[in-house]
Amino acid sequence: MKISVVGMGRVGGATAFALVARGIPHELVLVGRTKERTVGDAFDLLHASALVRPMRVVAGDAADTAASDVVILAVSAAADDVAGGRAAHAEANARLLREIVPPLAEASPSAVFLVMTNPVDVCTYVTLKASGLPPGRVLGTGTLLDTMRFRSLLSRETGINAQDVRAYILGEHGETQFPALSVASAGGVRFEPRDSTVRAFAEEARQGGHLVARSKGYTNYAVALAATSICEAVADDARTVLPVSTLVDGYKGLGDVCLSLPCVVGRQGVERILAIDLDDDETALLHQSAAAIRAGIDRVEA
Ligand code: 2OP
Repeated sequence: MKISVVGMGRVGGATAFALVARGIPHELVLVGRTKERTVGDAFDLLHASALVRPMRVVAGDAADTAASDVVILAVSAAADDVAGGRAAHAEANARLLREIVPPLAEASPSAVFLVMTNPVDVCTYVTLKASGLPPGRVLGTGTLLDTMRFRSLLSRETGINAQDVRAYILGEHGETQFPALSVASAGGVRFEPRDSTVRAFAEEARQGGHLVARSKGYTNYAVALAATSICEAVADDARTVLPVSTLVDGYKGLGDVCLSLPCVVGRQGVERILAIDLDDDETALLHQSAAAIRAGIDRVEA
């Protein structure tokens, strides 16, 4: 398993560390903005790997990523390059991806491309188009992160392991995300969709990124483990059901947009999107989410 992490800021760095700690890659290629710093990260992670498993850790450039099994995109246009807030940041990130993705896809035509760059749904779409790869092989961390936040809160409340809580946050990794409460359960026992505590947890999950960012200025550890779990599902061809951002075309009348639905993730990336049985209110929220993401795509493509 050769994994390349492109973008070695706080998110890329935490992801590389989590990948090493879980012993997933045989070879890890790090591509960072500053070579000297990335060389330091590569040595540091190589030293860490001594307690895990033998692996090659390389500080390289796009050419060194050739024949990767997974290419992780954790790039972000540096904040100081971008005046004008979120929308401008989205445009700058989309431009950056349009520039770097084609040679990466050419070098690793069989890879799964995992997008972490925000806004992740828009950036997953941009990466898909720029790569020319089949839709299943380009996915974004999407609402896996929000789902982890939601499950951790439900787990604390119920005293049930978060891994056994089957509850999804779906749609946009952003303001219009929604909880699929009508099908949320643990051990076959459904959560009550109108339960105010459960609804409050979904809202807390939605605010989770802001909460962390207000306190430490950014978020990185949870999304790093989200990306690592996706890599693990690919490496093991595990067919794990994960809510990840993927091209949705045809499901419930949605077309040509990337958003999160429960997906079967294996060696080929998204092997299948599951037709989750949303109720009418949730379906309306899914459409709202799709419209918000589509507007974001239109903005960066204008
Ligand atoms: C998060 O939700 C900012 O997308 C990042 O943590």
